[in-house]
Amino acid sequence: MEQYIIKGGNPLNGEVTIGGAKNAALGILAAAIMADDVVTIENLPNVRDINVLLQAIEAIGATVDRVSDNEVKINGSTIGCLNINYEFIRKIRASYYLLGALLGKCGKASVALPGGCAIGSRPIDQHIKGFEALGAKVTIDHGTISTSADKLIGNHIYLDVVSVGATINIMMAAARAEGKTILENAAKEPHIVDVANFLNSMGADIKGAGTDIIRIQGVSKFKKTTYSIIPDQIEAGTFMIAAAATKGNILVKNVIPKHLEAISAKLIEIGATVEEYDDAVRVIADKRLGSTQIKTLPYPGFPTDMQPQTAMLLALSNGNSMVIESIFENRFKYVDELNRMGANIKVEGNVAIIEGIEQFSGAEVSAPDLRAGAALVVAGLAGDGITTVDQIHYIQRGYENFEGKLQALGGLIERVDVEDEKSINKFKLRVG
Ligand code: EPZ
Repeated sequence: MEQYIIKGGNPLNGEVTIGGAKNAALGILAAAIMADDVVTIENLPNVRDINVLLQAIEAIGATVDRVSDNEVKINGSTIGCLNINYEFIRKIRASYYLLGALLGKCGKASVALPGGCAIGSRPIDQHIKGFEALGAKVTIDHGTISTSADKLIGNHIYLDVVSVGATINIMMAAARAEGKTILENAAKEPHIVDVANFLNSMGADIKGAGTDIIRIQGVSKFKKTTYSIIPDQIEAGTFMIAAAATKGNILVKNVIPKHLEAISAKLIEIGATVEEYDDAVRVIADKRLGSTQIKTLPYPGFPTDMQPQTAMLLALSNGNSMVIESIFENRFKYVDELNRMGANIKVEGNVAIIEGIEQFSGAEVSAPDLRAGAALVVAGLAGDGITTVDQIHYIQRGYENFEGKLQALGGLIERVDVEDEKSINKFKLRVG
């Protein structure tokens, strides 16, 4: 099993280029199979979740040509709607977007229930509500969710909960329904807009994505397209926090600054310098930063996917801070790990009370999930001494070449096998 080994204390300085947005790419890859023609996706993040979904898409019969790490051509015309082999996609989680895509394309779908994960229960009742409103039948049996419809008919759907996944899944199915669908209380994240723009580039008729009311006029066919995925808001935010936590100076390139406003505003509020350019932001911190309050909210509020990284930063602040996690019910599992590094954080329900300390001390910690894993790596880089982070497969789900990008910024970090004493000692000798 692999781990990161880190020697803290170096400020991170230099430039980093952000990759394509994982959470846009997952919806876009699923939607790509709905065209019976070649669809080219560029700026694809080369991360585990994406590679697993591409395996699933190939397993159900689509033609997948991985042109490069960051470009793929998909042709859904080779999917035989009448005899799809659901075996593989009943086993993996990254496939629930195939529900909406296959329902829209073939009038039926059957995928693994996402089940719970490290941050919460991840229900899909709103996805089901949307599919049933469009005239589909939905059954759940032995951990598999199946849906089918003779014909999808547009409808007026009101989401009880603002859900990114439900918005994307329902948008895909409605894009091929007969007539008009109005989706109210829709999620407004940048990746929703990206999936809608992608569907429209294939000939869909979707208006209002990015607002809480999305209007969809169903069409009968999608055509070939070439589409480039937007930059990853959360990868960018993670490197912005890394600059602040290590008292460094990083130019984060290939971003859409508007998508980062909630993060930039908080960094400025606690005393960091944030300079915005057309497609880049620079973050500079040369002193210990101040404290603040954070409440995670649907976009454009503060992103829940930036909560662990920001709480880690506030754990180093000069003062007391509070973080309220309003989206997921179990997203503070990393606090025990940070407290092993000397942090002083108490969690009461969905609130973390943080008393700032001067510096983390290196320790052996374990990544509980994707974003918390990234936060622990940055804590090691900001800390004093050696830190090891294991369970890094979580981090590799959503960060492409994470250690390579951090090394290029002066971070002393290596990916080693936990059993490989020789490499671990070599690293310790090298970093002194
Ligand atoms: C997406 O998850 C992202 N994942 C998550 O990112 C992100 O944290 C989340 O949106 C919120 O922004 C992907 O895009 C693959 P939701 P999703 O449906 O769609 C409740 C990461 O780190 N809910 O917006 O599953 C749910 O319990 C990951 O990249 C229902 O009650 O999130 C949660 O409390 C982690 N019923 C809230 O809504 C439903 O049918 C928001 O969930 C669906 C959701």
